[in-house]
Amino acid sequence: MSRTSEETRVQVRPATEADGTRLAEIDHLTWSPDVTPAPRWAADKVFFRGADHVRDTLVAHEDDLVLGYVQLERSTLCPASGHVQIVNGLAVHPDHQGRRIGRALLGEAEAEARRRGGRRITLRVLGGNTAARALYLAAGYRIEGVLAGEFLLGGRYVDDVLMALDLTNEASPPRT
Ligand SMILES: CC(C)(COP(=O)(O)OP(=O)(O)OC[C@H]1O[C@@H](n2cnc3c(N)ncnc32)[C@H](O)[C@@H]1OP(=O)(O)O)[C@@H](O)C(=O)NCCC(=O)NCCS
Repeated sequence: MSRTSEETRVQVRPATEADGTRLAEIDHLTWSPDVTPAPRWAADKVFFRGADHVRDTLVAHEDDLVLGYVQLERSTLCPASGHVQIVNGLAVHPDHQGRRIGRALLGEAEAEARRRGGRRITLRVLGGNTAARALYLAAGYRIEGVLAGEFLLGGRYVDDVLMALDLTNEASPPRT
């Protein structure tokens, strides 16, 4: 697997365990209360939770330098939702944002979800994360719901926005 962003030297590949140190640094640098409700992680945290977590991670790189990552996982362990993948992490190093790297990562995550037999990709994004929300909309994701005031961050109640990408290009089946 190798996908090139519009800046031609940036490519996307599966992560390896050795990428963990750099990905922890990227997480640390991109943290803000507009981006995640979780507390800021230490720059030297152990990034990967195990082999599955490595397998579910794609990294964007330019030559040997990792610039960002996306994580795609099964939405739940329940067989009934086996057709749903979830984007559970996405970040691009601050020095390299605005280079269409996020877009390239999402594009490769979509391709991977299709390879896994996915019919939907879902995600949650904070209401105030304007950059990520614009990126997801540009990539074809649509808002499916809002958890109003889900998080209390910096003294303000913040919405959590549910978004999804339909991979079927079919009309949705009737809901029961
Ligand atoms: C969100 C994030 C991954 C975007 O990555 P990026 O590589 O800078 O984004 P791209 O260059 O691929 O942008 C693609 C599109 O997204 C939108 N976009 C990206 N950044 C934007 C911004 N700051 N403001 C408005 N729109 C933006 C634009 O539509 C853009 O298309 P354009 O280049 O034609 O204008 C990056 O800002 C980031 O790492 N943020 C911190 C972590 C985070 O918020 N993760 C998501 C958690 S849900």
